[in-house]
Amino acid sequence: MINYTIDRNVAILSWNMTSSPMNVLNDDSIPVFEAALQRAYDNAEVKGIIITSEKNEFIAGADLKMILRNNDKEPGDMLKVSAELNRVFRAIETSGKPVVAAINGTALGGGYEACLACHHRIALDNPKAVIGLPEVTLGLLPGGGGTQRLPRMLGMEAALPLLLEGKRVSPKEALALGLVDELATSRDELLEKAFAWLSANPEPLQPWDERDRKTGRIVGKENFKVPGGAVQSPTDARVFSAGTAMLMEKTRGNYPAPLAILSCVYEGLQVNIDRALVIEARYFVQVATSKVAKGLIQTMFLGLNEVNKGISRPKTIPPTDVRKVGILGAGMMGSGIAYAAALAGIETVLKDVSVEAAEKGKAYSRTVFKKAIERGKGTPEKAVATLNLIKTTADAEDLRGCDLIIEAVFENRDLKAQVTKEAEPMLAESGIFASNTSTLPISGLAQASAKPENFIGLHFFSPVDKMQLVEVIVGKQTSEYALAFALDFVKKIRKTPIVVNDSHGFYTSRVFTTYTSEGMELLKEGVNPVLIENAGKNAGMPVGPLAVSDEVALDLISKISGQSIHDGMMTEDDTAYQVAGKFVALGRLGKKSKAGFYDYPEGEKKYLWPGLSELFPLADQQPSVDEVKKRLLYRQVIETVRCFEEGVIRTQLDADIGSILGWGFPAYTGGTLSFVDFVGIKTFVQEADRLADAYGERFRPTQNLRDKAEQGNSRFEQTN
Ligand code: NAI
Repeated sequence: MINYTIDRNVAILSWNMTSSPMNVLNDDSIPVFEAALQRAYDNAEVKGIIITSEKNEFIAGADLKMILRNNDKEPGDMLKVSAELNRVFRAIETSGKPVVAAINGTALGGGYEACLACHHRIALDNPKAVIGLPEVTLGLLPGGGGTQRLPRMLGMEAALPLLLEGKRVSPKEALALGLVDELATSRDELLEKAFAWLSANPEPLQPWDERDRKTGRIVGKENFKVPGGAVQSPTDARVFSAGTAMLMEKTRGNYPAPLAILSCVYEGLQVNIDRALVIEARYFVQVATSKVAKGLIQTMFLGLNEVNKGISRPKTIPPTDVRKVGILGAGMMGSGIAYAAALAGIETVLKDVSVEAAEKGKAYSRTVFKKAIERGKGTPEKAVATLNLIKTTADAEDLRGCDLIIEAVFENRDLKAQVTKEAEPMLAESGIFASNTSTLPISGLAQASAKPENFIGLHFFSPVDKMQLVEVIVGKQTSEYALAFALDFVKKIRKTPIVVNDSHGFYTSRVFTTYTSEGMELLKEGVNPVLIENAGKNAGMPVGPLAVSDEVALDLISKISGQSIHDGMMTEDDTAYQVAGKFVALGRLGKKSKAGFYDYPEGEKKYLWPGLSELFPLADQQPSVDEVKKRLLYRQVIETVRCFEEGVIRTQLDADIGSILGWGFPAYTGGTLSFVDFVGIKTFVQEADRLADAYGERFRPTQNLRDKAEQGNSRFEQTN
């Protein structure tokens, strides 16, 4: 797993794990790594050590499955993980032999922390490689000395943004930032540069270490001056308190890791490195055993990887490939979908009622590219190549031979039926027809199709170039083949799919609507709208429920709820229907009409419409922020549980990922179904019952949920 060779009195430790596709630090590899290092320390012939890897990556990081396994065990188990890493890394810098990290590829998290413990870092200038400490994005902090060595090496000002944002950078940027000391252009040069450095530096010492005069041992230096200034100064204390306030504002107290990182740095830099590592370990255990880390790792790392790899794809269907795609409707959605398809190298036909209209849609891709190039992403060559793949037309004949046609015309059943009938015959043999409808059930739309088994929903989100999620909707007659085909396409355009069974509002719109509608319930009860909006944001939703209703448009909300009433899904006393209807009658349609729950004065910040207090007089008793937060979140979770029990949503992972990527449900909870475990299933059921008694049956937990709470089982698994 780690090849040990000696060349010119240098031990080369080259990682090549067989038990995992990438090199990771885990229970298997850490002891092997430590033993290999020890062998080199013990061999008097060995004058220096090079750490490198035989894979494309250097070391991808600590094994997150190992972190997750220890997440809800005793804190002592997690402490062992961090203690082991620290023992190995500290020995690297104190063995007395010089150690160089020859970073041949990606070095993240624990992988880069190993490099920080080395006396010198040389990176291969590999454009695919990334370097950094992204722990914070998974609710963790660098627990292998990263929060201590990085600021000691770079100074606080440079280190803090890297630690707090978890930025990953290319080797070139890493050199510019000081994360590595040299670059090499080939593997051979990488090793040669390492040899050269080792022979020039036979007895290196980290700047934060010194030799104990009596024992000769290497120990942490007292009063080590961090580059750019000491922490003890009053100015620094001010920087830290301002930093804390800024982080609180940004995270709203929902994410403990950034604050823990700040504390680690502040406290750790006041003591020597040995004691600092103990402080870091304490904070590491705190965040790594938190529910926030569990949710983020489970859903946003391990789960997202599985979904992107195609966990929901029917296994029996051979791989499919879309080479030519047709898109009907070059409006907001169609133009975005065309961009995404062409970007993936797919020949794209963009059809609208006239070539001019289709050209307008294509212009969207041009704008996106222009912006990307301005930001230093993407090249003019890529832009030209991509734009050349988009053919604009008004002639259905141009769709001939498409493997996939996606319609994104106006949300009108008859129009959708008409374009389906016109375009479907142009499909290649076993081609698939998809609708991007946001509200119309797929099985109904499939009635216009001659091959309903090849008809599926592909629900993209706006703006398509930024939104990663695609909700794939399986109609009553949709075949496994069509599903596999759709999932292969989503993968090809590098988006993330969730699979949903057909139903009103599918999954994402149905649950998201409960957020806006609970906002309106609160308003109707006389809760201060400022409180409603702040509670939404404090809960971790990207926008308050009233502001987001304005963005969706109140006439649309009114129309959709009207349709639900028509379809017998709800009654006319539905609050969202009434409230949105009231606003439509006033001509306040939301952001698009510059008037809704908010006023949108030209060139100024929006503010809550003063007329709200007349329409919805404030109640004498106002609820606490926590109570409002709870209502806004529980409502979405209960609706998701219903979707799951009705089979609309098939897996917990789809529910969780769909909620976070689809409408910004707070990631710190792990997603709408993981939320139940986040608060504890017994507490969840109790609280939901209390909310139902106080505010209405919409909060009432299902019988199934009660049974699960009895069993203490918060995993959601379909039984059929
Ligand atoms: P849009 O109004 O921006 O664009 C619709 C386009 O369809 C227009 O360019 C129109 O000229 C074109 N069109 C009309 N009849 C046509 C025909 N016979 N052949 C070809 N093109 C025709 O609408 P938008 O927002 O792009 O929505 C399109 C679909 O996507 C709707 O079904 C909508 O519900 C759905 N959707 C919309 C989302 C949004 O955020 N706007 C999100 C997800 C889905």
